[in-house]
Formats: sequence, C-alpha cells, structure tokens
Amino acid sequence: MKKSSKNRLTIHQQALFPKDTLFDKIARAVCRSQTLPRKELYEAWEVAKRIRRIFRGGRIVDLACGHGLVSHILLLIDDTSPNALAVDTHIPQNANALSQNLINTWPRLKDRIFFSQMPLEQVELSSQDIVVSVHACGTLTDTVIEKALSARAKLAVLPCCHDLDACDTGGLEGWMDGPLAVDATRAFKLAGKGYTVMTKKIPVEITPKNRLLMAYPK
Ligand SMILES: C[S@@+](CC[C@H](N)C(=O)[O-])C[C@H]1O[C@@H](n2cnc3c(N)ncnc32)[C@H](O)[C@@H]1O
Repeated sequence: MKKSSKNRLTIHQQALFPKDTLFDKIARAVCRSQTLPRKELYEAWEVAKRIRRIFRGGRIVDLACGHGLVSHILLLIDDTSPNALAVDTHIPQNANALSQNLINTWPRLKDRIFFSQMPLEQVELSSQDIVVSVHACGTLTDTVIEKALSARAKLAVLPCCHDLDACDTGGLEGWMDGPLAVDATRAFKLAGKGYTVMTKKIPVEITPKNRLLMAYPK
C-alpha cells in the first residue's frame, strides 16, 4: 500500500485496516467519512504520535488545520488535553463528516474539538497551549512560530512549500539545500528565544516534506 497516495480513502478501503489497533480504527473511521487522501491519514498519525511522545495536557491549537484530523488524533492518543481548536481560513465542507465519523466511533471526543474559520493570525494563544501546524505553506509556518513564541506556547510544525525568497535561510544555503537551511534557521531562532528544540522526521515514504520541528520554552 502506497502511503503517499493522494487517492481518497472510501468505505471500500476499510478492509485494508483490519486490526484492532488505534491506528486501524482511526483509518476505518476516515474511510467511512470518504473525505481524505491516504497520505493525509498517515501524515496526521505520524505527526500526532511524535507530538504525544513529548507534549501532554494543554489545549491543542491546530493552525491551518484543513480537515482537522490531527486535532482528533491528538485527543485520541492522549486524553490529557481538554479540547482542541482547529483553525483555517477555508475549512473544507466535508471536515464535519470526518469529525462526525470520529466522534461516532469515540463519543468522548464530542464537544471537545472546535473548528474556527478565521485567519490564524487572529488566534489568541496562551502559554498552556500546544500549537500544531502541519504543512502551513511557506511563510505561514513562520507566522505560526512567531505566534507560539509570543505566547510562550509549546510548538510542533511540519513545514512545507519553503519560499526561499521570503523565508530566512540564515545564509546557510551554501552548505545545505535551501529548504533545510530555512528549517535549520527556524530551529536556531527558537533556541535563541529560550526554547528547547527537538528535530524529528516522519517517514519519507509518506511525504518528502517530513521535517517535524518541536519546541517548548525552557
Ligand atoms: C497545505 S494545507 C494543510 C492543511 C492541513 N494542515 C493538512 O496537513 O492537511 C494549508 C492550509 O492552510 C490554510 N491557510 C492558508 N492561509 C491561512 C491563514 N492565514 N490562516 C489560517 N489558515 C490558512 C489553507 O486554507 C489550507 O487549508
């Protein structure tokens, strides 16, 4: 099975996930909702799993959330967060179908995930929050980092679409490829602001944009 497939999962693919594991149960619920490409299921799972190894408790704030699957999985993997706020300027119409399928399977998620259609720039954060952003394109990841920094919130971003003209490469592009220079500069910026930084990767067979940058204030 190609984990990077952009084909939408449908009810017919439920049989691909027969096990009694949390991942397979989530995958079957995603299939029933018929909303997401396979790649996004794997991305969300791999990111959420790594975040929960480091961060517990606090409100989840999922910025540029798309369908909001990451928020749901974060609450399922670890129930220590009271709720999640999922923010996007364009919440897909079928995000509700996905959410309902997950809530039907896990009623404890009911009334704990709040979607807000607004620019992430306007979200108010607190130091208790875990700010998450998966594939916020180009400088949007930098906006997420700035927002988390100004609230002294915990942070996890999986950057994409690095804009080498607009993003800061820190002058490192002579030694490494441009997108890596941008992400390294982001990591050093966080460290310079008194954050402990952790750099991880999700499997490259899911996405080549696989660098997960996590940080929390010391
Ligand atoms: C590549 S998608 C990623 C969606 C989702 N996180 C995922 O991994 O599938 C980028 C998302 O950023 C959203 N977006 C772009 N600018 C935004 C902004 N200023 N505030 C909030 N969301 C924004 C888009 O609507 C889109 O859903």
